[in-house]
Amino acid sequence: MIPAAGFGTRFLPATKAQPKEMLPVVDTPTIQYVVQEAVDSGIEDILIITGRGKRSIEDHFDRNIELERRLLEKQDEILYNELRSIEEMANIHFIRQKELNGLGDAIYHARFHCRNEPFAVLLGDTIVDSVIPCTRQMIDAYEQYGQTVIGVETVDPSKVDRYGIVGGDKLSETILQLTDMIEKPSIKDAPSNLAVAGRYILTPEIFSALEKTPRGKGNEIQLTDALRIILDQESIIATVISGKRFDIGNKLDFMKTTIEMGLKRDEFKAPLSEFIKEIAKNL
Ligand code: UTP
Repeated sequence: MIPAAGFGTRFLPATKAQPKEMLPVVDTPTIQYVVQEAVDSGIEDILIITGRGKRSIEDHFDRNIELERRLLEKQDEILYNELRSIEEMANIHFIRQKELNGLGDAIYHARFHCRNEPFAVLLGDTIVDSVIPCTRQMIDAYEQYGQTVIGVETVDPSKVDRYGIVGGDKLSETILQLTDMIEKPSIKDAPSNLAVAGRYILTPEIFSALEKTPRGKGNEIQLTDALRIILDQESIIATVISGKRFDIGNKLDFMKTTIEMGLKRDEFKAPLSEFIKEIAKNL
């Protein structure tokens, strides 16, 4: 499940009339990286939560017959095949979140789709660059422990006050039995420097927890608050994901993502490196 209905106020004015999830990193919309991660993790059925102003997400994963015809006329088979592969990536469904009542509310919209099975949540504005797809790492942890899984990443201890931070007891090098979860703690109150990273494996219990979750920060239904209700009833693990996370919903991270992902592309690596070295001389 990919929540992608949010306002994206941190990225205004770009997000006034277009979804932040469609902002391109190099030449590919952010949400396509996210769908690719799910597909590479073995997921075949994807539910995207959209909302007002998000139609371009649906169009992106739909066929564009006129464009395909034009590419065939131009005999551009490479682009033609690339376009067709986007349409055929997975079985993608859409539900609209009519009022933006927060991430928890977006997830609640999946209750009829997920039936009685655990499901993965991948935030639509977060890319994880990793060797083993991040969601695959999370599914592996779920299969081993059979508990709700929260993906976390190590952050600089001086920046814990910007993130949701977890605390817990080490079960292995990368797995923690969760005891605590605090939204944006002060440096002295933070139980660790492990920050929630926008990837979850949730169980159907989350839906009844969301029903009991009062509006929290920003007058929104917060997923963290619902997870805290779950934590009172059953155990949750956190897994330290291996890879690098980019939250493209904030402008600086978006710029960094574009540079890092650009440097990974054969056609841009050399000229982009040259450019960076050149401008770095004057910094
Ligand atoms: P954010 O916390 O980044 O919120 O959402 P936002 O509203 O999109 O952005 P800002 O803070 O105003 O800049 C994390 C993910 O959850 C989705 C967003 O689309 C994003 O992918 N989301 C958030 C929803 O689907 N519905 C909501 O009500 C809120």
